Amino acid sequence: HKVLVLHGPNLNLLGERQPEIYGYETLDDINNRLYEKAAINGWDIKCFQSNHEGELIDAIHAARRDGTELIVINPAAYTHTSVAILDALNAFDGKVIEVHLSNVHKREGFRHHSYVSLRADAVIAGLGSKGYSLALDTLD
Ligand code: DQA
Repeated sequence: HKVLVLHGPNLNLLGERQPEIYGYETLDDINNRLYEKAAINGWDIKCFQSNHEGELIDAIHAARRDGTELIVINPAAYTHTSVAILDALNAFDGKVIEVHLSNVHKREGFRHHSYVSLRADAVIAGLGSKGYSLALDTLD
């Protein structure tokens, strides 16, 4: 299987940024665990973080053409604002799983709506970094 894991804005600050909400693990900790899991299962996985909407869109476009079967995406704040990321995902034919570290429904009202959920095949929220690993478990 070929998988793309996308992390949106500010997730490069994981471990330092509101750890009571987002946990003490760094993004490298999370990605390294995903790379390990992929190696054990023989999956081809790429993890990418960007603070720039257009770079996330470019990565989704590349995934349309390179055999990617599954995109696991935490769009972070773009979840709640980005029609452009929704449109890019709508142009991708594979599976899409939306992941949030926190339970967005337990938080401020503006986090309750997700543009990306209009396309996602599944949504995982509130399980911390385990959510990414659980998203990969759907490949079995
Ligand atoms: C988040 C939730 C978003 O509302 C927020 O803007 C983030 C992270 C999460 O993983 O819980 O940056 O996507």
